[in-house]
Amino acid sequence: MRRLALAVVGAVALAAPAAASAADLVAPVTQDGPTGRYVLGGTWLLKRDPGDRGLAGHWERSRGTGGWARITVPNAYNTGDQSANSFIGSPAWYRTDFRLPSSAASPSWRLYFYAVNYRATVWLNGKLVGEHAGGFEPFELPLADVDRRGSNRLVVRVDNRRLPTDFPPSVFTNEDVPEGGWWNYGGIVREVELRRVDRLEFERVSVRAQPLGAGAPAAINVKVTLRNVTRDRVRARPAGTFGGRALRFGSVVLKPGRAKTLRARQLSYPSPRLWSPAGPYLYSVALSATATSRGHPAAVVGRYRLETGIRSIAVGPDGRLRLNGQALNLRGVAIHEDLPGKGPALTSADRVGILAAVKDLGATLLRAHYPLHPQMQELADRAGILLWSEVPVYRMATHYLASRTVRAAAVEEVRQDVLANENHPSVIVWSIGNELDGKLPVPVRAYIRQAAGAVRALDRSRPVAMSLFGHPTLACRPGLEPLDVIGVNDYFGWYGGDVTVRDALSPYLDQVRACHPRQALIVSEFGAEANRIGPVTEKGTYAFQQDFVRYHLGVFAQKPWLSGAIYWTLREFLITPTWTGGNPRPTPPLHQKGLISYTGVPKPAYVDVQAAYRATPQIGVP
Ligand code: GCU
Repeated sequence: MRRLALAVVGAVALAAPAAASAADLVAPVTQDGPTGRYVLGGTWLLKRDPGDRGLAGHWERSRGTGGWARITVPNAYNTGDQSANSFIGSPAWYRTDFRLPSSAASPSWRLYFYAVNYRATVWLNGKLVGEHAGGFEPFELPLADVDRRGSNRLVVRVDNRRLPTDFPPSVFTNEDVPEGGWWNYGGIVREVELRRVDRLEFERVSVRAQPLGAGAPAAINVKVTLRNVTRDRVRARPAGTFGGRALRFGSVVLKPGRAKTLRARQLSYPSPRLWSPAGPYLYSVALSATATSRGHPAAVVGRYRLETGIRSIAVGPDGRLRLNGQALNLRGVAIHEDLPGKGPALTSADRVGILAAVKDLGATLLRAHYPLHPQMQELADRAGILLWSEVPVYRMATHYLASRTVRAAAVEEVRQDVLANENHPSVIVWSIGNELDGKLPVPVRAYIRQAAGAVRALDRSRPVAMSLFGHPTLACRPGLEPLDVIGVNDYFGWYGGDVTVRDALSPYLDQVRACHPRQALIVSEFGAEANRIGPVTEKGTYAFQQDFVRYHLGVFAQKPWLSGAIYWTLREFLITPTWTGGNPRPTPPLHQKGLISYTGVPKPAYVDVQAAYRATPQIGVP
């Protein structure tokens, strides 16, 4: 119904600020979700705890502000400290006071954290509310004892020290040098929302809007999971519209505390406007939940809104990825959410800038090693940028993945990604991880099977992907069968060993294709470090990087069956304290394969990639 511009939702104060360290309740940065959401903006307090004394000292009961610094959230507390200790991590405590909005006549409240890296412990008014581990997915905690009239004190202990079984894992090389993943920014790195819940809570809303062929109406399937958060039996009746057309759900009686999923009768939507990069057309979905219970006449007790698109994404029998039936030959770029002076604690304006840069490069596909901020995904929905949505199951040592518990936690990362991001038309693949052991030993194959199964149990409308390091000797290893899309990370001619010679790239890609003809193949990474002027023959120079991208893009252009190629990365980012990245003159912890420097200066190779991307037909190729 509406084509939305790249709207940047500003922070609009919804309630007068209270004391000095008090939160302002401001409008959400995301548009999709239940109504009754308030971001805890304004002033927070931060206290570093390098000696890990806060738990024994019961800092959750702290009263004064001595030793606490005034900050805002999102925040990464070790930004600017590039020492090994900063990367290894240490605890820190956050605190803010808030009052419920005046319209607080509802039975319960929730705290919704968009992301905390890595472990969070949460207290309200001195009482433990809950805990969470995981740095890149949202979590929600009930606020049973919130003070409805007075001021509430929220305290969050964050500990970014990671374990070898975390996502990404902490890894120490033999000299006790911390590695593993990328820069380990600790903090409440994305927003915190206060969420009002009346008698029925929208636990999950799932929209699948699929075209059924040229000129045919689209099939719209909507499922809603409602939970009865009261102590009475409640008759729950969802209702709503998709693109202005009624959705018919029926109703169900929910016992206290129970949840049930209701499926609307499939809606046949005539003359659908399909979503695509060339035309990111969005439809509004507006839902409500009516509750009827003893002593309570029927009343609307909850609303949920989102914007989504009608499109299909699938791998055909020819092993080509297709969007709305059109074969893809995408050109993409990867990012880390990491900007100077703030790390991952980005603003709406930062996210708009990043997507504008992706578009400027001529890229249509965006990848990261973790689910991007939900607002970045909403902006991608509106800008027509496709997302490779990946979980940080990253290079985990096989002996840890051999543990059922660790594998189950990794599969849960995948489930949480799907549940949080399934209504974005921009998300085209669910990637279950990156560079696990390419020999595909038994634990890795078990993980691939279980993770792919978990995706398909929740969402059969998108392909399952995974990225592997491109080793020529491993092109045809069995074990990838559960995947629809195989991502290969191409560093031929950059790293040593069996990828020393770049001419081995073309036959390698042919071999992977020959061994996996029914799966789509995407080069999920290619890149070369560049941080100085120098000869084209010298790794690490701008000239070498230019020659590298021209060569690799030239090889990809000879592979008409390739479904895409993603440059690693758009901008430089911080990785690990001893990073060399194959550069004879590295400047750790900077990762410097980026086409743009950490401070935002494009390198010479930027225009080479841009020219090639803009000249490549990416959608509807023969
Ligand atoms: C791997 C990994 C990236 C890393 C890259 C590199 O492919 O997925 O996270 O940055 O190697 O070597 O630069």
